[in-house]
Amino acid sequence: MKNVLSVLTGGTLICVFCAGFALAQPAGKAMVDNACSKCHSLKRVESALKNAAEWETTLDRMIKKGAKVKPEEREAVLKYLNGLNK
Ligand code: HEC
Repeated sequence: MKNVLSVLTGGTLICVFCAGFALAQPAGKAMVDNACSKCHSLKRVESALKNAAEWETTLDRMIKKGAKVKPEEREAVLKYLNGLNK
């Protein structure tokens, strides 16, 4: 019984993790499409070749300029930006 329970718990945890991961991409994309196309085209974003640290600096710079990215959205946006040139 204990084994069945731990398998179930483990499976659920893995599923939650998978769902979070699968959702992070489209959610990040929607946020970028929305927040980053106000002042320049998305091409400017999509054609930028940056590593994680550079994206973090750029994102914070854009937020200072007025990009509407909430603190709780920052992680998903960075994840999406980091995946752009992979
Ligand atoms: C309030 C207007 C505004 C918004 C919103 C905005 N940007 Fe920008 N962005 C600018 C301006 C102005 C420049 C050109 C001057 C500069 O680079 O600072 C720029 C330039 C850039 C560049 C090219 C320069 C570089 O550092 O590589 C990138 C990449 C970029 N923005 C990404 C983004 C992303 C990602 C978002 C969404 C989170 C975003 N921007 C939202 C105003 C904005």
